[in-house]
Amino acid sequence: MVRKVIIDCDPGHDDATAIMMAGIHPDFDVLGITTVKGNQTIEKTTTNALNVCQWLGLDIPVYEGMSEPMVIAGPPTEERVHGQSGLDGPHFPSLTKKKESMHAVQYLIQTLMQADDHEITLIPTGPLTNIAMAMRLEPRIISKVKEIIMMGGSYENGNVTPAAEFNIYADAEAAYVVFNSGIHITMMGLDVTRKALCFPSVVDRMEKINNKASKLFVDMMRFFIKAQHETYGWEGAPLHDPCTVAYLINPDVFKIKECHTDIEIRSEQSYGRTNCDLFNLTDKVKNTGVAIDINTEKFWDTVEQCLKMYD
Ligand code: BDR
Ligand code: CA
Repeated sequence: MVRKVIIDCDPGHDDATAIMMAGIHPDFDVLGITTVKGNQTIEKTTTNALNVCQWLGLDIPVYEGMSEPMVIAGPPTEERVHGQSGLDGPHFPSLTKKKESMHAVQYLIQTLMQADDHEITLIPTGPLTNIAMAMRLEPRIISKVKEIIMMGGSYENGNVTPAAEFNIYADAEAAYVVFNSGIHITMMGLDVTRKALCFPSVVDRMEKINNKASKLFVDMMRFFIKAQHETYGWEGAPLHDPCTVAYLINPDVFKIKECHTDIEIRSEQSYGRTNCDLFNLTDKVKNTGVAIDINTEKFWDTVEQCLKMYD
C-alpha cells in the first residue's frame, strides 16, 4: 500500500537525506514538503528543500512555514553542524523551482481537511511549529492523520541542554500540543539516531552508486562529517532524520517500546525534555512508540536501497 505522507522539515543535511529517500521510494506518495525555522532561518530551509528537490528531479510542492516558534524563542540556528546555508557542502545550479504561494500551515489544514480519516502520515524532522499551529487553527485535522513518525527528543540525554534535543527545545510548546493531540507518535530520538553514524566508510560505499542522489549524499556528508568532528569530536555524523523514513520502509531496523511521553514546558533546567515513561510508572495512555534500538547494518542497507533508485 502506498502511504500518503507530508514531510515537515528544516533542511539540514539529515532532513535532505530523508527527502531523498521518501521522494523516490515506491512505498510513499509525498504530497508536499513543508518547511520550518530550525537548523536555519525559514528562508534558508525553504531554499534548501527546493534545491534538493530540483537536484533530484522530485516534483514535490514545497510550502514555506513558520519563521518563529509558537511562544518561546528556541536555540539559535545550527551553523556549527549545517553551515551558513543550512546545507553547506553541495553546490547547486541556479534555482528555478519555486515555493508555493500558500503558507505551510494553511496547506496542512487544506490537505488534511480534504483527506479521509486516518489517511495521511506526517513525518516531522524539524521543530513542530507548523503542525501544532495547524492543529490549533483547525482541530478537525487531527482525525485525518494516520500517525506521526518524527525525529526529536530523547529518553536519555539531550543535545542542546543535558535534558533537551534540538527539535523539541526549538519549540517545546508546539511539541506539547502535538504529543497531547491524541495522534500516535513514533519517536526517533537521539537514543537511536546518535547511533546512525555516517562514517567516511559509508560515504565511500554510497559514492560507488554513482548517480545524482549519491553525488548529493557524498557532497553533503563530507561537510557534515567534518562539521560534526569539529563541533563534537565525533568520527561519524549522526543521520537523525532519515531514521523516520527508514522506519516506515523497514520497521525491523528499529526496536520500539510503547509508552506515555510528556513534554516538559515549565522547568528551567529541563525545558523541552521528552519524559518517556518506559517503565509505565504513571499508567497514562501510551501515546508514543519510542525507538530504543537500531540495527545500523539494516539502516544503511535501507539508505543505499533508496539512493540506488535514482537514475
Ligand atoms: C535534529 O536537529 C537538527 O539539527 C537535525 O536536522 C535533526 O532534525 C537533531 O537534534
Ligand atoms: Ca531536521
